[in-house]
Amino acid sequence: MKVTIHKLFDYLLSTTSEVPECVLGFSLSQSPRLAAFLPDLDPDLRLDWNGVSFQGLPALRDRVIAQAGLDGLCSAEDVLITAGAAEANYLCFRQLLEPGCEMISETPGWPQAAVMARAVGAVLKLVQRREDNGWRLDLDALAAQVTPKTRLIFLSNPNNPTGQLLTKAELIRLARIADTVGAWLIIDEVYAGLEWQGRRAPSIAGIYGRGITTGSVSKALGLQGLRTGWMICRDKGMIMDAVILRENASEIMNILGEHIAEIALRPDRLGPALAEARAEGAANLALLDGFIADQPRLSWVRPQAGLIGLARLDGEAAEPFARRLLSAPYRTFLLPGTAYDAPAHIRLGVGGGAAVNLREGLERLAACLAS
Ligand SMILES: Cc1ncc(COP(=O)(O)O)c(C=O)c1O
Repeated sequence: MKVTIHKLFDYLLSTTSEVPECVLGFSLSQSPRLAAFLPDLDPDLRLDWNGVSFQGLPALRDRVIAQAGLDGLCSAEDVLITAGAAEANYLCFRQLLEPGCEMISETPGWPQAAVMARAVGAVLKLVQRREDNGWRLDLDALAAQVTPKTRLIFLSNPNNPTGQLLTKAELIRLARIADTVGAWLIIDEVYAGLEWQGRRAPSIAGIYGRGITTGSVSKALGLQGLRTGWMICRDKGMIMDAVILRENASEIMNILGEHIAEIALRPDRLGPALAEARAEGAANLALLDGFIADQPRLSWVRPQAGLIGLARLDGEAAEPFARRLLSAPYRTFLLPGTAYDAPAHIRLGVGGGAAVNLREGLERLAACLAS
């Protein structure tokens, strides 16, 4: 079945030709420049594929295991390097879902799951995260949706778009719930690394045999354009199924992406890069939090992790408001909650560094809200 567009991408496409002067809700840390990696790159690197493994550069796979805290639990053999977490998710959805089977996911949540369930003809069951419950995921409600037909559970942790975190105990419970019917459990960790409350949650690949961790260097490290991510799973058949499907799409990894990601994930680079991203993210989040507290038409549940969250907008539907804010005189971009089936909310966030003009964007948002 044909893949159809989701509302988030539809909004991005319909606004690409706009030239906003400020962006609110940028979801990744400031992107480093290529120059930062040149001293560690080999000028003799052949721009062919890596020549060693269809799963990706072994050194990079080792780094992926280490950054996920999976040393001793998983090995490089359990990792497939992919074109971002998006491709990792895609490979899983395509290989695991079948017409008529059931998938459980969350709303608000990352729309890729719904699009792929629809395309494959799977039955999608959504668990509502409620704002009045701090956008927490109700595991009892999730468990109640499980049937013998449940093939897959897909969640993001931290959750996109609310920034709420599942704890270790919740992840263990989720694994038990999935295991009652032998379902696969994908936890998309693309936003991991910028936790404001509590520690980074453990990766599901280390907890559950049918657990699949997906992630990438896109968000906390700002390296989205490398298109380098991964899936981690201890089930060898799952990894091989993904390799086989990928052979019919992007075939192999992006060699420059593999090398730059490997450098970026070296401990002497990763630690300082995360520390810098955390310092900048925390300061900007405090600014945004204060801003929302001062705005009578806005309220939000502060994200526990990551650079984005959902704010409730009073008195106006989110999409017309976002379009009004994008037009003159405000020229400020943000995503309306319609992208997440949350039409009374807007997505706010603080990533992107100086280029997004955060302070000015907030002033313009205040003016638009007041007008
Ligand atoms: C939850 C989630 N998963 C995956 C992706 C895609 O990330 P990547 O650049 O690693 O493909 C995004 C991007 O916004 C996301 O929010």
